[in-house]
Amino acid sequence: MSTSLSYPSSTMPETPDRKGPSESRPAPATPDETRRGRIAARLCGPSIPSTLDSLGLRLDVRGPVGGDGAGNVDQAPEWIGDIQRFRGEALWEEGMRPQFQSAGGALLDPDPHDLVAYHLLLRSRPDDAIIACARVAPLEALPDSRVRAWDPALAAGLLVAHGCDERDVLEPARLVVAPRWRATGRLGLILVLTIASLGRALGRRMLWFTPGTRQNQHRIMLLVGWRICEEFGRQDAPAIADTLCVMVGGPYTTSVSFEPAVAGLTEVVDSMLRSGDEPGERRAT
Ligand SMILES: CC(C)(COP(=O)(O)OP(=O)(O)OC[C@H]1O[C@@H](n2cnc3c(N)ncnc32)[C@H](O)[C@@H]1OP(=O)(O)O)[C@@H](O)C(=O)NCCC(=O)NCCS
Repeated sequence: MSTSLSYPSSTMPETPDRKGPSESRPAPATPDETRRGRIAARLCGPSIPSTLDSLGLRLDVRGPVGGDGAGNVDQAPEWIGDIQRFRGEALWEEGMRPQFQSAGGALLDPDPHDLVAYHLLLRSRPDDAIIACARVAPLEALPDSRVRAWDPALAAGLLVAHGCDERDVLEPARLVVAPRWRATGRLGLILVLTIASLGRALGRRMLWFTPGTRQNQHRIMLLVGWRICEEFGRQDAPAIADTLCVMVGGPYTTSVSFEPAVAGLTEVVDSMLRSGDEPGERRAT
C-alpha cells in the first residue's frame, strides 16, 4: 500500500496562496462555501465525537475480516451478520426494494465485499445497536469493483488522470442511515467525512464510488466537495430501485469548511485502527 499523502495538483485542497500585501484579503465566500460553513458549524460543535456523544451515539471502526472478495471465508464473525441485517432492513424500505427480503421473510443484505472492507458504524448507547453504516473497500481487494465493472477503460483512465494505481484507491459503498435518524443534516454527512478520514489514515489518495441519485443521495458527496464523472453517464439499477452515477473524490479534496472535522476524525480513526490487534477485531469504543 502506498503511504504517500501527496496528491496531484489538480486535486489539491483549497488553501490560501501566498500573495503580496495588496492581494492578501481573502476572496469573498461563495454561496456554496457559506452554506458549507453553516453546515460544518452545526455538525461539529466542539468536535464530531462530542456531537455524537450528545446524540447518544458512538463511532465504531472495523478492519477487514479477510477472504477472497468473493465471499469465501471460513467463518464470518457475528458483527458482519449484524451489519447485513441492519442494511437489509433499512434498504428494504417497507417493500420498496423486495430483493432484501429472503424467501423465509428475513431482511438481509449479504455481500461478499463486506469481508474485505473496512466498516464505519454509528451505534446507539447503551444498546449498541447499529443506526448507520458505510463500507469502504481497498480497490486491490475487490475482484469485481463496481466502478471497474461499469466501464473498465474509463476506470483505468481515471486512475491515470489522478496519477494513482489501485493501491491508492478506496471504493466506498452501502452508506445507510436508519430511516428514523435521517435528514438531521448530520449522520450521513459524518459518515462521509469519516470515509475521507479513513482514506487519510490508510495513506490512500483517491476514492471512487457509485452512489444512487433518485433520492439525491449523491448530493451529500457533492456537498463534501467530490465530483460526478459525467463521462460514465448514468446506470439504472432496477434491483435497488435507483439510478447510479460514478463519483470521484479524495481524502484531501474535501471542502475547506469541513477540514477541521476531517482532521479531527482522522486522529480518532487512526488511533482506532492502531488499537486493533487482529483483523476484524473491534477498533473502537
Ligand atoms: C443518503 C443517506 C445516507 C443520507 O443520510 P442522512 O443522515 O439523511 O444525511 P444528512 O442528514 O447527514 O445530510 C447532510 C447533507 O447532505 C445533503 N443530503 C443528504 N441527503 C440528501 C438528499 N436525499 N437530497 C438532497 N441532499 C441531501 C444535504 O445537503 C444535507 O444537509 P442539509 O440537510 O443541511 O441540506 C440516507 O438518506 C439513507 O440512508 N438513504 C437510504 C440508503 C441510500 O440511498 N444510501 C445512499 C447510497 S449512495
